[in-house]
Amino acid sequence: MTNITKPTLKWVGGKTKLKYLISDALSLLQSKNNQTFDYYEPFFGGGSIFFHLKDLGLIDSAYLNDAIPQLVSYYEIISDRKNLGTFIEQCEEIEVKFNKLLSQKERPVSEYKALVSEFNSIWVKEKIVSETEESTNQKKYIQINPKTKKQKIRSAVLMQAINKLCFNGMFRVNGNNQFNVPIGSYKKVNIVDTENLINASLYLSNAQITCSSYKEVIENIKKKNHFIYLDPPYIPNSETSNFTDYSSQGFKYKDHVELGKIFLKLAEDGNNVILSNNNNQLAREIFLQNEKLYAYEVLVSKSINSKKDGRGKIGELLVSTFELQNIEEKFDLKRI
Ligand SMILES: C[S@@+](CC[C@H](N)C(=O)[O-])C[C@H]1O[C@@H](n2cnc3c(N)ncnc32)[C@H](O)[C@@H]1O
Repeated sequence: MTNITKPTLKWVGGKTKLKYLISDALSLLQSKNNQTFDYYEPFFGGGSIFFHLKDLGLIDSAYLNDAIPQLVSYYEIISDRKNLGTFIEQCEEIEVKFNKLLSQKERPVSEYKALVSEFNSIWVKEKIVSETEESTNQKKYIQINPKTKKQKIRSAVLMQAINKLCFNGMFRVNGNNQFNVPIGSYKKVNIVDTENLINASLYLSNAQITCSSYKEVIENIKKKNHFIYLDPPYIPNSETSNFTDYSSQGFKYKDHVELGKIFLKLAEDGNNVILSNNNNQLAREIFLQNEKLYAYEVLVSKSINSKKDGRGKIGELLVSTFELQNIEEKFDLKRI
């Protein structure tokens, strides 16, 4: 039986629903070319597609990247099997503590805030600055990186715990790079799934994980035998959608336009790329600038949306540099 390795974190915009489509598309491409491909995922997030492709044995070399340093540091730690003992022990300690509090019907807000503030203290240093003796103290926030292995493991433990305890698994930081998502409503929490973590760790240990802009990753791609999956933050369907700011810099309209140009260049240079986004007019304008691209609408069910009427099935846009022949019917893809 094939393993089913799930993402180790909940992630907004997670692509679990598209994983069979992407794996079929990659199989199609590989059998057409009679070779395996290197895999690039420059907007990694929770990595649902990567874990699925590894389960199916479809990829060997993988280059993964995300712009969030706390997230990449987390993956670096869990990718090393030697760290897992301490990591699991500390996660289980937090799980036992929070489940005890939750069973007493308490909402452990102050205990959750203590975890968040410990996490932030690893990544942001507060410095008091007072210019003159009369002036009131002002604070400056400096971004720092965990230095010791112990600190890095603790940061990964806190990332894991906070992700499972916070509202909807969101990762959002304020202007000072401090995580600021409130606690969610849970009756019981499962902070870590040990068996799944061990599989994920093994898969990640064979991959290269970087923390930079997607642009740098793309610039460094030299060979042609690769497959790139681009899953950038969504272009909002409505102006009130507020799930598009994943990092402190956010990913704004101009960033999408720039990505549109980079995607077009990748396509013209003969790369194998699939890009996904919301299927709205703006996304189609930005990503469908060449009639040689293959664009499809695929219906996926969404659980995270800010409005009740936004729940249910919604159309996502898939743009591919190669034709998704044979799988159009299987996944009910509508050619755009
Ligand atoms: C839609 S999510 C990816 C979800 C992922 N496919 C999954 O299944 O979980 C987009 C990701 O892009 C990352 N990101 C945002 N701006 C970026 C940038 N300029 N370069 C690289 N990654 C970026 C975010 O941190 C976020 O994790």
